[in-house]
Amino acid sequence: MTDQHAAAARVAAVYNAASDRYTAPSLSFWNRYGAATVRRMGLQSGARVLDLCCGAGASALAAARVVGPSGQVLAIDLSPRLLELAARRAAHDGLANIEFRCADATAAGLPSESFDAIVCVFGVFFAADMPDFVAEMWRLLAPEGALAITSWGPHLFEPGNGLFWQEVARLRPDLDHAFNPWDDLVTADALGSLIRSAGIKDVVVTAKRGTQRLATSDDFWQIVLGTGYRATVDALTPEQVDAVRDAVLGELRRRNVRAVTTNVIYSQARRAT
Ligand SMILES: C[S@@+](CC[C@H](N)C(=O)[O-])C[C@H]1O[C@@H](n2cnc3c(N)ncnc32)[C@H](O)[C@@H]1O
Repeated sequence: MTDQHAAAARVAAVYNAASDRYTAPSLSFWNRYGAATVRRMGLQSGARVLDLCCGAGASALAAARVVGPSGQVLAIDLSPRLLELAARRAAHDGLANIEFRCADATAAGLPSESFDAIVCVFGVFFAADMPDFVAEMWRLLAPEGALAITSWGPHLFEPGNGLFWQEVARLRPDLDHAFNPWDDLVTADALGSLIRSAGIKDVVVTAKRGTQRLATSDDFWQIVLGTGYRATVDALTPEQVDAVRDAVLGELRRRNVRAVTTNVIYSQARRAT
């Protein structure tokens, strides 16, 4: 198996597992930021949209509503279970203009200039070669087309994040920050530089503060299970999972934590004619 295939298999396993929590109320940030990314793009009715790393369809469903029956959304992800969930949601909402496809978004083999808009929400940082992935998005974009890449900002899921890694480091130092690609691209400068490094000149990058409310402190564990932390949890023994969860939630309860940070960085670029 090549490194790329091994990385893809790992991502698919992590997000297949996380799919069982993806639509929990404490994970409403997926829908919120997917919809916000699409809103910022000003998509036209009838547009052809490509959603890369679409997950459970947060941005793809929002895009399908905006472009309407004369438009089309192709949504790509590596996780079959998230794609099934996304397809069920689309069917429930009566959206017939989305195709979900299980493929590697970095090498989907699509024709050049075949989309009016390309969306990638919380996915770009999984690519081994991020500039190459962004350049591939640009290749797929038609003249005058719009590209939107959204990344997480700093302090994601704090204060839960720090407590989680502290307990993992204590019990399993080998897993400490071993899978956290979302922390690699957390400033407007970093996201802007990445996009420019792919040869794209006119890019607008906007950092926004955000928080996710939790009904109870314990809801932080739903976030752990429904996001990329799941890779680390599933590598622990059941006893270690109990120990990490009890320590993290115990401290969050003690502090009566009812929200975690979800800062976001949006970017937009438009191709010239
Ligand atoms: C953090 S989730 C975000 C999902 C969705 N965009 C959202 O905001 O709800 C990242 C997603 O990227 C997918 N992913 C990561 N690398 C990928 C790749 N090379 N090709 C396709 N999907 C990928 C994962 O399977 C996962 O569903």
